[in-house]
Amino acid sequence: MKQFRNDFLWGGATAANQVEGAYLEDGKGISVADVVTSGSHTSPRRIALDQNEAYHYPSHTAVDFYHHYKEDIALFAEMGFKAYRMSISWARIYPNGDDEAPNPKGLEFYHHVFAELKKYNIEPVVTLSHSDIPLAIALKYHGWINKQVIDLYVRYALTLFENYKDEVRYWIPFNEINDMFLPMSALGQGALIDPQAQFIHQQKDDPDERFNALNNMMIASARAVVRGRQINPDFHFGTMICHITRYPRTCHPEDVLLVLKNDLFYNNTCADVMLKGEYPFYALNEFEKRGVRLQLNEEEKAILKEGVCDYYTFSYYQSISESTQEFSEETSGNIMGGIKNPYLQETAWNWPIDPVGLCTTLLKVYDRYRVPIMITENGIGCVDQLSADGKIHDDYRIAYLRDHILEMNKAVDDGVDLIGYMAWGCLDLISVSTGEMKKRYGFIYVDRDDEGRGSYARIKKDSFAWYQQVIASNGRQL
Ligand code: BG6
Repeated sequence: MKQFRNDFLWGGATAANQVEGAYLEDGKGISVADVVTSGSHTSPRRIALDQNEAYHYPSHTAVDFYHHYKEDIALFAEMGFKAYRMSISWARIYPNGDDEAPNPKGLEFYHHVFAELKKYNIEPVVTLSHSDIPLAIALKYHGWINKQVIDLYVRYALTLFENYKDEVRYWIPFNEINDMFLPMSALGQGALIDPQAQFIHQQKDDPDERFNALNNMMIASARAVVRGRQINPDFHFGTMICHITRYPRTCHPEDVLLVLKNDLFYNNTCADVMLKGEYPFYALNEFEKRGVRLQLNEEEKAILKEGVCDYYTFSYYQSISESTQEFSEETSGNIMGGIKNPYLQETAWNWPIDPVGLCTTLLKVYDRYRVPIMITENGIGCVDQLSADGKIHDDYRIAYLRDHILEMNKAVDDGVDLIGYMAWGCLDLISVSTGEMKKRYGFIYVDRDDEGRGSYARIKKDSFAWYQQVIASNGRQL
């Protein structure tokens, strides 16, 4: 069997609003993520702009990476990380999004983080926007629907590229950009918010507005890529797709057709634009059918062509099953929807566990795009118990990751050019869908509960030593 390449980027991933905390420290502005309350498996998160004390806003303290980054990065290094995927908080750099000058303290913080990573030869993979644009942009400009936000984003991107051109090579313009395919209110209640937390809206989901906002995000990405390459030709830019592998629930031809169409629309549209430089025929036609009138002029079309990314990254947690027929059992805890797949176990949050789907996805994606692929998120959210011996025996996490890495290896054996793997939430963090702390993903436990109480001490889980051995053996010892 072919092995992972020698320079394979083993690592882990987090996002600023889910780990940093210090939400108002050193000049940071409030981001959209800072006004989203905590929720649970059964009660959705809400947007509460009034900063009401009755609510808990998990991002305000998160797991306090802001003050623990040295300790956390030392632990990543101890595991042998070759890469660390993180995001920069836009509101730390431009507190209101449209400030005249960047916040020096914000820039300094990430210089410190990159210096710490360099000390251990850990390659940063940096997401520019991971669900937390400055709240002022959402309120004053109505988020991405406004083309002025493209300029604000490009200015933010240039600030990062110029400041960190010698510290960062791998960039990801947007996390899970295709989350914009989900109707708003998929996360949140009371006020509508799209799952990208890009704009806040009080009336109803409007697909025309939502897809135009997405279009603006892709134009912004392309413009940033073009300018970034001028600043440092060695920059690598990756798409980041929430890849939901879809199965027909039955072999009825109508089910197969349904899944094909959903795959074309939900999984391929953004990746096609960001890697091939144009919208696929299917999406354009579908937009027309749905009454979406894309505001895309000739100049913007040319920018999309010029500013294509050079590697494909995606998150993979689960597959979903779909059918044209009625099935009573749905997978409840999953914002992606879908029917229960009788062949798959589910997590405590009802996310189907499907390692083979990862191999399928890698082959399908590589066949379509033929560019290097990096898995930038994969993992299992579980309740971890601190045992009497002071340890966390998370054999279920080891089993999940082992099974997925085995399938990755099979895809490599089939010829896929896979360059890296970032386990999601290498450090316990705040869950996006529920705002909970108890939905844990990490190799490193953080002593903090759903209300923000705890010592914030870090404790290595059993999976820590396991992943250390996986990396040391370049994926041979699982
Ligand atoms: C991805 C997001 O969709 O899923 C992450 O990019 C998120 O930010 C991850 O944390 C897992 O989802 P959740 O809801 O369990 O946090």
